[in-house]
Amino acid sequence: MTHAIRIAPSILSADFAKLGEEVRAIDAAGCDWIHVDVMDGHFVPNITIGPAVVKALRPHTTKVFDVHLMISPVDLYLEAFAEAGADIITVHPEAGPHTHRTIQNIKALGKMAGVSLNPATPAKMLDYLIEDIDLVLVMSVNPGFGGQSFIESQLRKIEAIRKMIDKTGKDIRLEVDGGIDVNTAPRAIAAGADVLVAGSATFKGGPDHYASNIAALRG
Ligand code: DX5
Ligand code: ZN
Repeated sequence: MTHAIRIAPSILSADFAKLGEEVRAIDAAGCDWIHVDVMDGHFVPNITIGPAVVKALRPHTTKVFDVHLMISPVDLYLEAFAEAGADIITVHPEAGPHTHRTIQNIKALGKMAGVSLNPATPAKMLDYLIEDIDLVLVMSVNPGFGGQSFIESQLRKIEAIRKMIDKTGKDIRLEVDGGIDVNTAPRAIAAGADVLVAGSATFKGGPDHYASNIAALRG
């Protein structure tokens, strides 16, 4: 199933001193989802935000909160993110041994479940998960930081996962995250992605540019 392209700005590139205002600005600028990068300084070499911040941001928009958890362990924190207002909760199989259980836990909380693969993780990792999830997130950079360059080999992975998804006949989103800009966005879309995360490319130039930045990513 192919969907309209969705743009999910990563607030990692926003001004953290005024996050509420930034979320309202990207909402008004026409984004589809709000991508929230949660990092723990353990699974990835950076620390960002936790459930308290997600909760504080929730009243600022009605758009989908697409919460990308780069934390280990993860299960302990699912309920807090669900209660804080996450709509989609995406986890990394590289961060723990029980991804299937984690997916079940996310579903039990009434949320959409996503699985994210690091650049070195093969598409095959999804073989026994794909039927049970709502979203696949392909990392096109190594997770941890915004502003990195797109890793070309991930286009092949997106192509492979697009085939897997279509084979299921289910409504599963294929999202790409890292190094997405006006040059890489059309290539990721051509490979089969239907949700584009963009941090630097959305927030560059400040609020006056958000609408044109987002429009440019749609192609
Ligand atoms: C990286 C994060 C990304 C990142 C994307 O670990 O998951 O969402 O913020 O940033 P850009 O779009 O600047 O590559
Ligand atoms: Zn992310």
